[in-house]
This record gives sequence, C-alpha cells and structure tokens, in this order.
Amino acid sequence: MMRNQGGIEMAKLRVGLVYGGRSVEHEVSIASATSILRNLDPSRYEVWLVAIDHDGAWRVGAPGTSLEGAMQRGAAVVLPPTPAANALRRVAGGDAVAVDVLFPIVHGHGGEDGSLQGLLELAGLPYVGSGVAGSAIQMDKEIAKRLLSFAGLPVTPWRVLHSHELARDPKGVATRVAGELGLPVFVKPANSGSSVGIQKVTKLQSLPRALAEASRYDTKLLVETALDAREIEVAVLGNEDPEASLPGEIRTRRDFYDYEAKYVDESTELLVPAPLSESESDAVRDSAIRAYRVLEGAGLGRVDFLMERATGTFYVNELNSLPGFTEVSMYPRLWEATGLPYPQLLDRLIELAIDRHRRRAALETTFRKLGR
Ligand SMILES: Nc1ncnc2c1ncn2[C@@H]1O[C@H](COP(=O)(O)OP(=O)(O)O)[C@@H](O)[C@H]1O
Ligand SMILES: [Mg+2]
Repeated sequence: MMRNQGGIEMAKLRVGLVYGGRSVEHEVSIASATSILRNLDPSRYEVWLVAIDHDGAWRVGAPGTSLEGAMQRGAAVVLPPTPAANALRRVAGGDAVAVDVLFPIVHGHGGEDGSLQGLLELAGLPYVGSGVAGSAIQMDKEIAKRLLSFAGLPVTPWRVLHSHELARDPKGVATRVAGELGLPVFVKPANSGSSVGIQKVTKLQSLPRALAEASRYDTKLLVETALDAREIEVAVLGNEDPEASLPGEIRTRRDFYDYEAKYVDESTELLVPAPLSESESDAVRDSAIRAYRVLEGAGLGRVDFLMERATGTFYVNELNSLPGFTEVSMYPRLWEATGLPYPQLLDRLIELAIDRHRRRAALETTFRKLGR
C-alpha cells in the first residue's frame, strides 16, 4: 500500500511490463526491461511480467519473478479482445490478472510497429507510448519521410524500391537509382531497427548486392543520399504538449552507426549533452517536437537527426517510438541531463499512458444526436 498526502492508503498500480518479442531486437528489449524493472518504485507499482518469447508466445510472471524466469517458465497467457475485461488470462491456471497499464518495451517488428498497440486497443488497456497509427508510421521509414517532407522538415533525398522490381532487373534498378541520387548512398529495409540490413554503398557495382541483402528484411527498400553528418538525438516526452530534452550526440569510429557500433564496439561514445551552440540546440529541439507531432508521437519518442557538417542543417533521420531504455541508453540519459531522473521518467510515462487512455475512452462509440 502507498499513502497519498492525506495519509489515505491507495492500492498500488498494477503495471504489466511487456518485453522480449519476435524480432532481432529481443535481447535489446530484455536489457531495457531489466533497467525498467529495477527503477519502477516498488511502493507505487506492482509489476507483472509479460514475456514474449522468440516464437511469439506470451508468458506471465507474477511480481517477484525474474525476467528470465517468466520468459522460460511463466504461465501461458492470452489477451482477450474484450474491452474492460482489463485482463491477461492465464491459460494454464485459468484465472485472470487485471492490470491497470501496460508498459511495452518491445523493439522492432511486432512491438514498435503498431501491431502490439492494436491488440492492446482491442483489449481496452492503457499502454505506454504511441498509438497504432503513430507507431506504424514511425516504424516505416518511407512513410515517415513522405510525411516529414510534406510538413517542410528536411529529410535526405531518397528513392523507394520494391523487391519485385529488383528481382526483374537488379542491375538496371541500381544504375537508375545511383544515376538519380549519386553515390555514396545508404540502402535500408523500410522497416528496420538496430541497423540490421543497412549498408553504405560507395561503388555502383556493390549496389545490387546491398539491395539484395536489404530485401531479406523487407519487401520495401529505401535508397538515400549519404550525408557527411554528425548524429544528434533528442528525447521527446508528452502527449498533446510534448517536451524535448537536451540533445545528445553519438560518435563512432566505424564507418557509420551500424549494429557493431551500437552493441559491440566499446569505443562508441554517447555525448550528453551534445556539444552544440545554444541556437543549434534550440533549433534541433524545436525540430524534434515538430517531427514528433507530424508522426503522431504519444508518450515518448527519440528523434534522430543527421546534422550535415558542411551546412549545419538538421535532417530528420528517423523516429523511434520505443527507444532503447537501459540506464545507459540515450533516451533516459537525455532526460536525466535535462533534470528528470530515470524513476521519475517512468512515473511520467505511466501517467501519460493513463491520461491518453482516459481521454480516448471518453469518446463516443455510438452516434447520438445532440439534444436540442
Ligand atoms: N542518409 C544517411 N547519411 C548518413 N548516414 C546515414 C544515413 N542513413 C543512415 N545512416 C547511418 O546509418 C545508421 C542507421 O540508420 P537508421 O536509418 O537510423 O536505421 P535504424 O532504424 O536501424 O537505426 C544511422 O545511425 C547513421 O549512422
Ligand atoms: Mg537509427
């Protein structure tokens, strides 16, 4: 039990921490969940674990279970698409666990792309982060670019390719795209994360192979002009009135911020805050909020920029609706530097989730004529 200011006892909030997932970022998600679990205030929250294993099965672990224990031995659960049931049903035990809010920290496919959010919407459960549309458009780099450029935000020039056109004439497609954009270019699966499937291509003869490699991860690909740029990231927090953190910077000794640089290479540096002038910092924070609004952000989002060295222009590279969340990850570190420590950041995210759910739940679901 916790007490409010008047000394009245209030029940703890039941939080379902959803982690793991059926994606290449399964392990990254577990690392994020470990930090979240450690920092959720035990006097305020009762944490139920909802582990999604590599095959996509959901397992529930009661409060006190380890993340690994829930993943391996938790009771199988189903989430009925019945609003107000507010419950994860334990298939084995047959009973239901009512949770007040879910905190999904599942990166990539099936976690960050709107599908998990859709399931939670059907079940009528409040959850941390962006909704179905926001999650989906932030995940799809090509749709995101179209919307950002329509709103007048700078994005790098790009072309979109589909794997069926590639299969017909790989060399022809490569030659056309390189002719239009020049070289070097970046080749990316439209829906990607952790730099998986992403390559920098400097020679025309390497382009068909890079496209083939990227098309192992998605049927829609992006080819982008490669910029000589600094990588600046801003953490955004909020629903209707989002706020931007101080910017941070990533420096790698590798050719770009690839998978190795993200998770293996210990020389990768995260500079918090980024060494920028006050006016540069203000400009990038302002752009971050604009990009977040354009792409329907809610709760949280990390906006990643490429700051072109020659011109100082901040190009929006991508938004991440469920960014890495370990204590040493950029998102929480940026808030820490801006004056919001990790545990309070979690409190705020949970509040925002409940607040957003309340407003949406108050909307009409049937048509009634207003009385005269
Ligand atoms: N147009 C570009 N110009 C320069 N570097 C880029 C460009 N696009 C991507 N990169 C590099 O590749 C990395 C991964 O690309 P990104 O689009 O952020 O994919 P992911 O979603 O996998 O993080 C970036 O952090 C950056 O280092
Ligand atoms: Mg990125």
